[in-house]
Amino acid sequence: MAKSKSLFFCKHCGYQSSQWMGRCPSCGEWNTFEEEVVDRGDAGKGKSSIVKSAQNFPKLLSEISLVQVPRIPTRFREFDNVLGGGIVAGSIILLGGEPGIGKSTLLLQMALQITDKKILYISGEESESQLKMRAERLFPKHQPDNFLILTETDTNQIFEHVKSVKPDLLIIDSIQTLQSQLIDSAAGSISQIRECAAEFQHFAKSTGTPVFLIGHITKDGSLAGPKILEHIVDTVLQFEGDIHYGYRIVRCIKNRFGSTSELGIFEMQGNGLREVLNPSEILVSDRDEDFSGSAISVVMEGTRAMTIEIQALVSSAVYGTPQRAATGYDIRRLNMLLAVLEKRCHFKLGAKDVFINIAGGIHVDDPAINLAIVAAILSSAADLPIDTKTCFAGEMGLNGEIRPVPRIEQRIAEADKLGFTRMFLSKYNLKGIQRKNYKIQLIPISKIEEIYKQLFE
Ligand code: TYD
Ligand code: MG
Repeated sequence: MAKSKSLFFCKHCGYQSSQWMGRCPSCGEWNTFEEEVVDRGDAGKGKSSIVKSAQNFPKLLSEISLVQVPRIPTRFREFDNVLGGGIVAGSIILLGGEPGIGKSTLLLQMALQITDKKILYISGEESESQLKMRAERLFPKHQPDNFLILTETDTNQIFEHVKSVKPDLLIIDSIQTLQSQLIDSAAGSISQIRECAAEFQHFAKSTGTPVFLIGHITKDGSLAGPKILEHIVDTVLQFEGDIHYGYRIVRCIKNRFGSTSELGIFEMQGNGLREVLNPSEILVSDRDEDFSGSAISVVMEGTRAMTIEIQALVSSAVYGTPQRAATGYDIRRLNMLLAVLEKRCHFKLGAKDVFINIAGGIHVDDPAINLAIVAAILSSAADLPIDTKTCFAGEMGLNGEIRPVPRIEQRIAEADKLGFTRMFLSKYNLKGIQRKNYKIQLIPISKIEEIYKQLFE
């Protein structure tokens, strides 16, 4: 009897080894190796269903003609931007995200919007009637004749159907449910995911059909899958947001056909996803009264400037150790800002609980938000409001110095356009700015102490 072959894979990064190891030499994670039977020795040989490509030969660069790659528009402006201008023929796109965030909804909605292309949606997760119900919710009484659904998980079968249907666009929901007969391990295991993705990649490249792969990741990104697929696919999109809020962001992590700095913002509603074309309006709450502890920052998300509201609550610590918590912001950075405020500027926050919340359930990494966070903390600590027409953009260093931030003109223009009257920024950012071009008053700051005086004295 032929011998079966098994390998060990790191669940975290997909590193492959013939023996079990305690620590992965590639990613350094502990206890992540799992055994998978990749070949039972008898089954699967020569069953490949992959479409074989024509013979290739080496060419000179000059012999290769420059072709404009055709792109399929998704009918979502936000989504097109993220993709770099639509779906490129023959590309393979991975859409990763936590379960329940709306991946299936986004791609189903996109598929139903594209009316001039034949689309095959393959689902290994939901039944036909479930998909029908969702489609009905998205577009009631819409009966397109270019959209087909297949519930199947065996890649051999899938390629058989694909051959007869000849779709212009293929959507796989999700890569973790697929199973290739060439590999003996269970669906969702690393070797299966890798093999199935490779089969679809080969299909996309040889036929020019774009393929979307949906992939689940858990909160800590630990589930095998999307991480190891990043090398195989052309574009990696991440769908994120807080499930409890309506806002969703599609972020591009890798793109062979466009920039990775773009991002798309959506709002999940009762009848599907709606594009948010002007994010500033929703990320700042409407209020008539001034509350203490609230400050507005102009941050860059991708290539877009938008205003976002930060709320801080500073209160006396009830327990021995003061609590610090942040939603939408890195807690270590919050601790650093608090340490700077305490040490360099003698603001006594040591015995206070500090909570930070960023509106809309959005996570912000742009360091330009620091100045607004500090302002919100100071406002709450002093219980003095900052007026709603004031905004901030600046990074704070360990000495309490306010550092300049990139793309300041774009930020100023956005704040000006939205009707803000004052903007605090680093004094080094003012160089070369034509102040008379803007109605907004620009207030330069060089040290954090100054901001307290400017705002509250
Ligand atoms: P889903 O697309 O199934 O998420 P994923 O494929 O990423 O696991 O949908 C996620 C959630 O979105 C689901 O809990 C219900 C909600 N939803 C709406 O709020 N409005 C809608 O129109 C639809 C279709 C779903
Ligand atoms: Mg789904």
